[in-house]
This record gives sequence, C-alpha cells and structure tokens, in this order.
Amino acid sequence: MNKDDIKYVLFSEGEIAQIVERLAERINADYGGEEIIVGVVLKGSLTFSADLIRKLDMPIRLDFIQASSYGSGSKSSGKVKIKKDLENDIKDKHLLLVEDIIDSGNTLAGLKAMLKDREPASVKICALLSKPSRRETEIEAEYIGAEIPDEFVVGYGLDYDEKYRNLPYIGVLQPRVYGGGE
Ligand code: IMP
Ligand code: MG
Repeated sequence: MNKDDIKYVLFSEGEIAQIVERLAERINADYGGEEIIVGVVLKGSLTFSADLIRKLDMPIRLDFIQASSYGSGSKSSGKVKIKKDLENDIKDKHLLLVEDIIDSGNTLAGLKAMLKDREPASVKICALLSKPSRRETEIEAEYIGAEIPDEFVVGYGLDYDEKYRNLPYIGVLQPRVYGGGE
C-alpha cells in the first residue's frame, strides 16, 4: 500500500468519530430503546459498524449480509444476488441496515425490497457516506453520515480492489490507481 495512492484525506479519524457520534444520537433517539437487528452489509461496513454499535444504547442483535457486486460494466437490473444472508428471522423485528457508501443506490434498493418481503416491523438504512450525484435508483436512507462528491474513496473499511480497507481515515484515491486521468 502506497501513501502516494491517496490524493487527499477527506475525513480524518477525528472527523469520522464525530460523524458516527451524530448518527448514533439520531438512531438512539428514533428507536427509543427498542431492540433492533443491525444488519451489517459486508464487507465495507465492518469498521463503521464496529464503531457505530458501541454508541447505540438499545439492545441489538448483530447480523451480517453480503450482496454480490455487479461485474464491471454491467448495469444492475435492480436485483441483487445474496452471497451471505442474515441469520436472524426479521419478521416483526426492526432492521437497521448499515452500509459504507451509497453510490448508484442499486445494491441497497435491491436488498431493501428483498428484505421487506420478509415482513419486518421496519427496515431503515444507515450509510456512512453517500454520493447523491451518482444515483441511478432512488433510495430512501434515513441516516446518512456525509454526502460526498463523485470521487472514489477508500479507507475505514472501504476498498479499491480489496485494498486500502485498513486505512484509519477516508481518503480520495488517485485516479491513476484505477486507470483514470492524472
Ligand atoms: P451501489 O449499489 O452503486 O450504491 O454500490 C454501493 C457499493 O459500491 C458500496 O457498498 C461500495 O462497496 C461500493 N462503492 C461505491 N463507491 C465507492 C467508493 O467511492 N469507494 C469504495 N467503494 C465504493
Ligand atoms: Mg465494496
């Protein structure tokens, strides 16, 4: 991993901590102590969810779900393939999906539709980051940590080609790394 691969730091560790704190305050206020299932969308949300759950004050069940990513170039049909499903039965339960970043919105839109069929009491979405300018599918996300411009970011769980997840901050990747300009 080369430090030169990072164009600039978008959110420092301290700034991320503040974003997570603000999200947790809102989530705690909204659920009013009711139990929720936290559905961590693997793998990018691992770091974020680890920090977030420690700020939540209601009883939680921790669960994981992984959707398969679309092959490059293929436009999503809005359908997602499940690589790893939740272990909990979510019927009549409150589900909070935790995602690292909303880009096109296709993954979460597909996941949410599929999970709603299981008749949970509610499904809400908490995403650390969102790139609204990239949206292809409208998706209602109740909790968004920060909106960012259309740049590829890595670190704090977010990867490019499975790399950079272990950076403690969120940085903008140099376009040359993924074959872009500059
Ligand atoms: P969507 O279905 O286009 O919203 O895809 C969201 C997924 O794409 C996220 O869960 C990430 O795994 C990945 N992704 C989108 N933008 C970025 C980025 O800037 N950095 C790293 N991963 C990203
Ligand atoms: Mg990813």
